[in-house]
Amino acid sequence: MELKGLILSGGTGTRLRPITHTSAKQLVPVANKPVLFYGIEALRDAGITDIGIIVGDTAPEIEAAVGDGERWGVDITYIPQEAPLGLAHAVLTAEPFLSDSSFVMYLGDNLLREGISGLVETFQQSGPDALILLQEVPNPEAYGVAECEGNTVVRLVEKPAQPKSNLALVGIYMFTPAIHECTRAIKPSARGELEITDAIQCLIDEGKRVEPHVVEGWWKDTGKLEDMLEANRLILDALEGEIKGTVEDSEIHGRVIIAEGAHISHCTIRGPVVIGERTIVHDSYIGPYTSIDADVDIRNSEIEHSIILAQSKVMDLGGRMEGSLIGKNVRIVRLDHKPQAFRFMVGDNSWIGIV
Ligand code: DAU
Repeated sequence: MELKGLILSGGTGTRLRPITHTSAKQLVPVANKPVLFYGIEALRDAGITDIGIIVGDTAPEIEAAVGDGERWGVDITYIPQEAPLGLAHAVLTAEPFLSDSSFVMYLGDNLLREGISGLVETFQQSGPDALILLQEVPNPEAYGVAECEGNTVVRLVEKPAQPKSNLALVGIYMFTPAIHECTRAIKPSARGELEITDAIQCLIDEGKRVEPHVVEGWWKDTGKLEDMLEANRLILDALEGEIKGTVEDSEIHGRVIIAEGAHISHCTIRGPVVIGERTIVHDSYIGPYTSIDADVDIRNSEIEHSIILAQSKVMDLGGRMEGSLIGKNVRIVRLDHKPQAFRFMVGDNSWIGIV
């Protein structure tokens, strides 16, 4: 039987606030492509075309960005979740869609370099009740954590204060319909959510076979600024350069993508860099690992290792911007009238570092 896909794109993105006050965190672009699209492509590449997407408050935005899936040759079904009550609650909500199919559950803010095609094959051939992906991390307390004995998972704990191992649960899971009995059986955790980690522990307790697979290539949960910048760096590292826009009196080094309609003049651009459609960059330096989205205007500024979202303006910065995530339609400009003072209009939970 064909596998289905279930992408979780509901929830609230508290850790990327204020960027995600107005926008779904799964739509924040990495190398100018929404994180969520990488997940859809990973499922499609593994031959999974019947895909449900769990949506919450940001449903209209997700639906507008993804559409019916035709662009990827997949069928998308939107599944509204009443509130972000946990990953296992999302599976409960999706039960009518999943029916008696086995499925791949993919957290919409996760990125996995090696894709999932090989893992889907392993899952189908070896036939466990669930296959989970693990990776060693330096801060396991921020994740679901697995304790293994040999190739057997003995215990899974969600964000333990004192982790017993450094093996984190990657946000991509493969399940047979056996999971549904467990999502119905578990109770909310201390943080008030129905945890998928507890549902998988329930499978183990019932003697079902849960197979672990340690991921070798890179994996990123893009929930935090540093992880987002790191994901941007890793994706840009693998991109090929391509210049479609116009370049005038500028030096372009390394792998640089300049999209259609973009205009670069009197600049030095040192790749890997991606510059979106209709973006203007004038009299500026754009350094490695920078993604600048569409319709951005940059003049007389230096930017490196940063992500700038659509329609923003950066003018006459007077210093180098680094390690920054700039939201949509932001203006950073130099004021030329008196009094000479800093002027900010900044949302809740923002962060500004000045020199
Ligand atoms: O990224 C891996 C980690 O993902 C695992 O190690 C953890 O075991 C797992 O619980 C999960 O932890 P997070 O705290 O990072 O999950 P988060 O709340 O960020 O939700 C992950 C995705 O699922 C995100 O795209 C939002 C979506 N979501 C979340 C909840 C709680 C839903 O669609 N519905 C929900 O109810």
